[in-house]
Amino acid sequence: MCGIVGYIGKRDVAPLLLEGLQRLEYRGYDSAGIVIAGKSGGLKAVKAKGRVRELEARVPKRFAGTTGIAHTRWATHGAPSDENAHPHLDTEGKVAVVHNGIVDNASELRAKLEADGVVFASETDSEVITHLIARSQAVSLEEKVREALKIVEGTYGIAVMHADFPDRIVAARNGSPVVLGIGEKEMFVASDVAALISHTRQVVTLDDGEMATLKADDFRTYTTSGTRTTATPETVEWEAASYDMGGHDTYMHKEICEQPEAVDRVLRGRIDDKFSTVHLGGLNLDAREARGIRRVKILGCGTSYHAGMIGASLIEGLARIPADSEPASEFRYRNPVVDPDTLYIAVSQSGETYDVLAAVQELKRKGARVLGVVNVVGSAIARETDGGVYVHAGPEVCVVSTKCFTNTVVAFALLALHLGRIRDLSVADGKRIIEGLRALPEQIQEILTQEEDIKKLAADYAEAKSMMFIGRVRGYPVALEASLKLKEISYIHAEAYPASELKHGPLALIEPAMPTVAIVPDDSLLEKNRAAMEEIKARSGRILAVAHREQEKADHTILVPKNEDELDPILMGIPLQLLAYHTALALGRDIDKPRNLAKSVTVE
Ligand code: F6R
Repeated sequence: MCGIVGYIGKRDVAPLLLEGLQRLEYRGYDSAGIVIAGKSGGLKAVKAKGRVRELEARVPKRFAGTTGIAHTRWATHGAPSDENAHPHLDTEGKVAVVHNGIVDNASELRAKLEADGVVFASETDSEVITHLIARSQAVSLEEKVREALKIVEGTYGIAVMHADFPDRIVAARNGSPVVLGIGEKEMFVASDVAALISHTRQVVTLDDGEMATLKADDFRTYTTSGTRTTATPETVEWEAASYDMGGHDTYMHKEICEQPEAVDRVLRGRIDDKFSTVHLGGLNLDAREARGIRRVKILGCGTSYHAGMIGASLIEGLARIPADSEPASEFRYRNPVVDPDTLYIAVSQSGETYDVLAAVQELKRKGARVLGVVNVVGSAIARETDGGVYVHAGPEVCVVSTKCFTNTVVAFALLALHLGRIRDLSVADGKRIIEGLRALPEQIQEILTQEEDIKKLAADYAEAKSMMFIGRVRGYPVALEASLKLKEISYIHAEAYPASELKHGPLALIEPAMPTVAIVPDDSLLEKNRAAMEEIKARSGRILAVAHREQEKADHTILVPKNEDELDPILMGIPLQLLAYHTALALGRDIDKPRNLAKSVTVE
């Protein structure tokens, strides 16, 4: 979704900001813009609908300055257009604002401003912030911004420049991430470390309700009511190279191939062989509390919700605690009963997803204990939760999630093992799971070596207009996730069903033109899964099985190595990431940036 980058220092700002915007492209956007403080005073802005390269083409040769802010927009209020692109300037061209988030009372504020004679240049909600700042009678820029934000309802991450205060950028955060990058006599502001990491790894993450003033050689942070806050820069774990394509044609491919190392990372330093358990440093849940949990409710969206489904089955299986996963977006609107003995777990790769964050806030308001299973360290959800498990997948740039999904499930396996060993899981079973976890990186590597074969299958299945994915119990979330991946990047319609539900309706869809991908692990449900394949074959349906051994009923079988039954879903999902990838490639899709989608969904 929208991205912000800003700079104040001694360097020529336009190339720096354009490079920052390119690094934010992965978040998804439809237009971009840049504003700088010109050398002879005043602000100069350029905006363009479309890609950053289109903006770059419009930036005049003479566009010199050493302070500026820039933005990539993902339309919410008003269609993608030059006018609706940020930054938004006031009528006199003195104030410029870039904004991520949504102003909930924008129509009301706009009506009042228009009644006062303000002429709006765009249809966006964000422009009201600019005019409010421009009309403030306060003396300092900080005070002007503060006054404006007092009447703005909604979420924001903003960066503001003012022609009368050329020595500073003011930033503020409420619900949309803002990080400051601290350099040597230069400062950055961004919505995501990706935009600044090639210049500095020293960052300060603003909290909700916090503001910052950046000058070339100094920064300070304070609350929206003006009280100073302390902000000690932290070093970002990742290097700029983690955001590069590393010789692959797409980020998705790179991230699929990175999974063996990523899984190795989430396990590293956590396994305790002596007690056949794991140590999870940030959990903040002692053994007595863990024993008192009566239910686990996992909340996430999209792929993270699917990872949560596998997580729930791991927790229920290994720790024998009733557990389920629910879309956070639904949970928060159904006035859920919040039970003190339930452990709530928020799952999010980005740690920014608004629906998940809002669910966490609602739960905390009601006094619940909420843990996070999150990839981005220091993200909003990681900060809002009472503790949790970091997923350590590394930066995921492709809009669709692959390595984060896998690592999230592994993180759940660790949590389930931890809870299980505090409760009733035997040492022998603990050991069995640990051995299974340790085998994962090599087994994933083994699956990746089948890429050429999967590519051939993908070329064949790419002709389908619609596909069915089926699995039973542990296999069902794998089917759901595989079908989501296929539709997201190939735009082929796909349905996922529990195999047991086929004959209750979806069997009507089966015909030669509707192939089925069946998840068929070698477990106690093998015969049941075979029976489902029989039903499909009897209706002349084509079947691609993902299985531990060749399936005669299937037209094709992708073989995956066997692990422990509980951990099999982790491996069964991997070839289907490759299947979706190569199907999309065969259809010529823009794999890293699928249409209509954004990496971090920071709005409702
Ligand atoms: C799909 C995908 C999305 C996200 C969802 C939640 O490939 O990535 O479904 O999983 O938007 O995002 P996070 O995990 O960042 O909360």
